[in-house]
Amino acid sequence: MSWTKKHLLDIESLTAEEIITVLDTARGFKAVGERAIKKVPALRGKTVVNLFVEPSTRTRISFELAAQRLSADIVNFSAEASSFKKGETLKDTALNLQALNADFIIIRHSASGAPHFLSRVLDAHVINAGDGAHEHPTQALLDTFTIREKKGRIAGLNVTILGDILYSRVARSDIWALTKLGANVTLCGPSTLVPKTFEQMGCRVTHDMDEAIRNADVINLLRIQHERQRKTMFPSIGEYAQLFGLNQARLARTKPDAIIMHPGPINRGVEIDSQIADCGRSVILEQVTNGLAVRMAVLFLVNGGKALTETAQ
Ligand code: CP
Repeated sequence: MSWTKKHLLDIESLTAEEIITVLDTARGFKAVGERAIKKVPALRGKTVVNLFVEPSTRTRISFELAAQRLSADIVNFSAEASSFKKGETLKDTALNLQALNADFIIIRHSASGAPHFLSRVLDAHVINAGDGAHEHPTQALLDTFTIREKKGRIAGLNVTILGDILYSRVARSDIWALTKLGANVTLCGPSTLVPKTFEQMGCRVTHDMDEAIRNADVINLLRIQHERQRKTMFPSIGEYAQLFGLNQARLARTKPDAIIMHPGPINRGVEIDSQIADCGRSVILEQVTNGLAVRMAVLFLVNGGKALTETAQ
């Protein structure tokens, strides 16, 4: 088991062994989170800055809790209340945060490549919390962690990702992680949002919803990324929900043990029927819980912590 990277910028550049190292280490941290005393001293004296220039609920708060559980100091940067508003650049902002002794910069930004850029100009560890439509690596790690926890493995599973693939950083990171770990990945949605070119990433593309979910072990639903679409990609939300929303009739035609995933935020009644979001097969909130352990593992490993090892995959 190995981890030598100073930053976590994407899943594309990780090996399958590195992904497994994060998942195994996260399993150890999940056990820590179930103890009465949930804190460990691994990052005592370190400073973590959440540099979020796009909205977030789950990722920002779970990174904050992860840093606290590792005994680091954590500062949340608010773009709206910052000198971004006075024209300060991302590079100057990050250099100033580093001058204030930030050891980790966790960045979410609408520009693809923003974390990679910062990793070239900073000495601090840089962690990508979502860059444009490019990647969301910790989401893919928590998704694969959850699948492995629920199914006992990743290799050989049929995983269907449904919805707005084109504009989704979650989809790209999930595809990299799942294919590296040996899953069979199917993408489905309107042809405008799921172009055949995604097959170059080693997955299958279909526009037939019923066919896509029939043999799936895992159904991962994505919301429409309106904030990144520059033009109308389908006639109406109502038509999208009718053709590609997961409703009760469609759920009844899936494998009875297929799990339902969603990175959040969910749009009830659009990509997912409200009752399905809350049903026993939905692992949506377990994904959120697992995100905390996964982000603890990422902070710990990029800081040079010794990976925890396991034999099961
Ligand atoms: N899944 C996810 O990235 O959610 P947030 O935008 O709330 O962080």
